[in-house]
Amino acid sequence: MTADSPDITRFVDPASRLDPYPLLARFRAASPYVVSDGLLVAGRHADCSAVLRDPRMSSERYRSRLSPGVKGPRTRNFLDLDPPDHTRLRRLVVKAFTPRVVAKLEPRIRELTEGLFQEAARRDRFEIVSELAYPLPLRVICELLGVPFEDRDLFEDWSGKLSETLEPPFPGLVAPRASTDAVRARAEFITYFRELIAERRRSPRDDLVSHLVQAEESGDRLSETETLATCVLLINAGHETTVNLISNGVLALLNHPDQLKLLRENPALAPAAVEEVLRYDAPVQMTSRVARGDGHIGSLPVRDGDTVVLMLGAANRDPEVFDEPDTFDVTRPQGAKHLSFSAGPHFCVGAGLARLEARIAFELFVTRVAAPSLAEDGLMYKPNLTLRGPDRLTVLFDDIQ
Ligand code: HEM
Repeated sequence: MTADSPDITRFVDPASRLDPYPLLARFRAASPYVVSDGLLVAGRHADCSAVLRDPRMSSERYRSRLSPGVKGPRTRNFLDLDPPDHTRLRRLVVKAFTPRVVAKLEPRIRELTEGLFQEAARRDRFEIVSELAYPLPLRVICELLGVPFEDRDLFEDWSGKLSETLEPPFPGLVAPRASTDAVRARAEFITYFRELIAERRRSPRDDLVSHLVQAEESGDRLSETETLATCVLLINAGHETTVNLISNGVLALLNHPDQLKLLRENPALAPAAVEEVLRYDAPVQMTSRVARGDGHIGSLPVRDGDTVVLMLGAANRDPEVFDEPDTFDVTRPQGAKHLSFSAGPHFCVGAGLARLEARIAFELFVTRVAAPSLAEDGLMYKPNLTLRGPDRLTVLFDDIQ
């Protein structure tokens, strides 16, 4: 760490959740730099983008020098694997999320979203997180996987606990008790899916779990452990992220009434608004890679086994890439690319689905909710740094059509 590198513990402090961006700007300006032995931070767009596309930068995070003695991956989930295993497992699921498949989901997603707005209309407050942003993506991913939505309370509990495992290895961040919760949650998730998979093996349906089971049975393309890990990955990635996209977007629109008005008058701007929310307030703020062999990020030397934390939320506001990066502008030209869905071989499988869900949610929010405003004490953030978003976002309104 150099004399002018910002103090990472200030970032870890819950007080920075409301607006971490001034601090992130300082991390970006000082980056890339060494936080402590074996731990590096990159926040510039060019560096993050290069690391994400660099095959020598591994997603197999157990290789980190920060976790000595860990022999292999905790699960066989392909977010945490490199080629060739990553390529083999990813190929089996991307088919289920192609643009054509996702486009066919639009009527069902619209119907579900309409239903959530109708329910909200019966109340005098709209709690965006629990009444829209959470149930919509969870319901959609449950239907795709063929998992009973009635078990949503279990998933909500387990996924919440697993979110901690995505936190960066910054000093003072993960409480030991919390990690025990995460281990238990993972075990319970696995047991749940083991039973569901056994059932789909006996009587297959037209859903993603059945398709994965068939792929497993038709050869050595994936093992039972890999089927299980893929199911857990999909259900988690499928909703714990999109909830933040929808909530962060509604909050940004409430905080920028001129942009809300623009979108209401011109709903065709909705896809651009989704991209701007992704850039302005990234739902997944960070990811990491572990160096295989010695090398460099810019002029900073990197050693074998070093962990590089990539601050995607900082990269998305890099003034080298985006004009007036701190301005929320739904008409921003779409040339430059945010990194909210990552880049390179791990680029988010569900990006198209998340974009579609958010677009419909924003369209309905701006056109159906009359005179929306943030309730007093209506905003509270989740503690997580990586999965950034509100825990509660309560909106007052005159009417919902
Ligand atoms: C990977 C973000 C929604 C499934 C990723 C990564 C990011 C990300 C940043 C890559 C991490 C890395 O490179 O280390 C997001 C955001 C979402 C979202 C911001 C919503 C706004 C979804 C949805 C699904 C999904 C709806 C549903 C299927 C996945 C999967 C991977 C992934 C399976 C692993 C890809 C791989 O390792 O090859 N996502 N995601 N995501 N995402 Fe998403």
